[in-house]
Amino acid sequence: MTASDAPASSSGSDAGPDADPLRYATEYHAPVLSHEVTDRLITDAAGCYVDGTLGGGGHAKAMLDALAPKAEVIGIDQDADALAVACDRLKEEIDAGRFRALQGNFGRLRSLLDDAGIDTVDGLLLDLGVSSHQIDEPERGFSFQREGPLDMRMDPRGGLTAHQIVNHWDQRDIADAIFHYGDERRSRPIARAIVDARPLETTHDLADAVRSAVPERDEVKSLARVFQGLRIAVNAELDVLEDVLEQSVDVIREGGRIAVISYHSLEDRRVKRFLRYGNFEGKPIRDIYGTLIAPFEETPRSAIEAGEAEVESNPRARSARLRVAERTPDDAGTPVPTR
Ligand SMILES: C[S@@+](CC[C@H](N)C(=O)[O-])C[C@H]1O[C@@H](n2cnc3c(N)ncnc32)[C@H](O)[C@@H]1O
Repeated sequence: MTASDAPASSSGSDAGPDADPLRYATEYHAPVLSHEVTDRLITDAAGCYVDGTLGGGGHAKAMLDALAPKAEVIGIDQDADALAVACDRLKEEIDAGRFRALQGNFGRLRSLLDDAGIDTVDGLLLDLGVSSHQIDEPERGFSFQREGPLDMRMDPRGGLTAHQIVNHWDQRDIADAIFHYGDERRSRPIARAIVDARPLETTHDLADAVRSAVPERDEVKSLARVFQGLRIAVNAELDVLEDVLEQSVDVIREGGRIAVISYHSLEDRRVKRFLRYGNFEGKPIRDIYGTLIAPFEETPRSAIEAGEAEVESNPRARSARLRVAERTPDDAGTPVPTR
């Protein structure tokens, strides 16, 4: 089935009776909505596709299996550990010249592809956030359940760490990060408790500070929100998401597609607005005839969610929202003259 004749349903349960949701899962990571991604992203079976969040290589493998022998997939990840695991898994495809891995931040997509000698591609996949393996590794500091250093960097080669934020940022900036990126309404008392508990060295030090500021019944939710907020701040996740979406307009050929899987509303809101309107304010721009001018057209015009079977076998799929859009021709619409 090609992307264009895939049924326009908003549920992942239509992937067909043969679609085992765990087919591409490994101990490292179980990719979500892999059948829906390949069904809807691929418009040319012999084309070139980018997996901007390679992780354990599950989606990349699913794409390679669905593509023709002469197609190519480029996998990008900023985490060297993920690249090593994925390259090991995709050894045969590397030898066959069907897969290449690039280390870097997808926020620099244009220059990563320029360096690889690639102008435009037929499709781009982004499966946002961290992998199960990254969460499970205590030394990465992503989980409040495992004691480890306060790191939270997806790219451990440099940059801001959670340790720097909780030990050196102003209380107000910590509260803002927890409020805006973690959606935690008790951000101020939590930030005060963090500052009072300084110095904090481990994820458990941070978890104890959070627990001291929230009622017991809300502990787990608050811990998840605080850790999410700090992780987004450490990795500047919303900034690089906006960067890659803007660059995707230039990178994806007309008629090619983008598929983005988000796990929380902060990401999904940005993705939805950009794929519908070409901006992050959600502002429609129309030509003199009232036709919407936008670099993409969402297809279908709603998020695709995992079906029950997938959620049951992979709880991570519960919050996943897949949006797919097709790159519209550049000359579509007549721009409104500026006043
Ligand atoms: C949810 S996992 C992807 C899992 C993958 N789809 C699979 O099937 O195994 C996200 C991966 O993207 C990487 N990542 C997240 N943000 C990134 C960014 N801005 N640039 C490059 N890699 C990023 C993470 O390091 C992680 O390995």
